[in-house]
Amino acid sequence: MRGLIDKIKKIVVYDADNEFYAKVFPDSVTKKDLLRIRTMTHADLPSVLSIERKNYEFPWEEDIFTDCFKAGYDCLVCEYDQSVLGYCLLSMAVGEAHILNISVAPNEQGQGIGRRMLEHLIELATGKAETIFLEVRPSNVGAIALYEKMGFNEIGVRKGYYPATNGREDAIMLALELFE
Ligand SMILES: CC(C)(COP(=O)(O)OP(=O)(O)OC[C@H]1O[C@@H](n2cnc3c(N)ncnc32)[C@H](O)[C@@H]1OP(=O)(O)O)[C@@H](O)C(=O)NCCC(=O)NCCS
Repeated sequence: MRGLIDKIKKIVVYDADNEFYAKVFPDSVTKKDLLRIRTMTHADLPSVLSIERKNYEFPWEEDIFTDCFKAGYDCLVCEYDQSVLGYCLLSMAVGEAHILNISVAPNEQGQGIGRRMLEHLIELATGKAETIFLEVRPSNVGAIALYEKMGFNEIGVRKGYYPATNGREDAIMLALELFE
């Protein structure tokens, strides 16, 4: 039963009350209240790829996203008013969760969407994994600030992990211990 409820929650995670209040009392809810996190589908890929290409110098191509679908990873989008504003992907195996990508459309950054998605991923992994890991470029000070605020700690460096314009760039490895 618990498994079934988790599956349903994975498909639609949304507070339907907010939609009701938005219709009846439009001033009583904010954009943040109406953000909806749901499973990414193939139909989302044009929006996702458009954000991906704006955000990264070395973006993922479509096949990486479809491979993540096939692997059964948690692939989610955050939408508002039927527009995809951001997305995130999480893999889970043998007690370890790994954030593979988290990305918010450039014109939507700084409004709490990245934090909302990260909180969601942490919630998904809690109870299933003991630790959640991610890699980040040392130059990505905004992302590092978000991860540190959420309690992630640096656990190491992967040398030359990322492609870069002048060769390769290291990755900082961060981890968060998950407690139920
Ligand atoms: C990193 C990213 C996902 C953050 O998403 P966001 O929606 O802009 O972040 P939020 O608005 O939720 O910010 C969350 C916290 O991080 C901090 N933060 C976010 N960007 C920051 C920046 N550039 N500088 C300093 N702090 C920053 C905010 O102060 C905020 O703290 P608060 O909630 O206490 O105010 C987003 O900037 C992004 O998509 N970047 C491009 C893709 C990318 O680099 N992804 C990460 C790969 S490892």
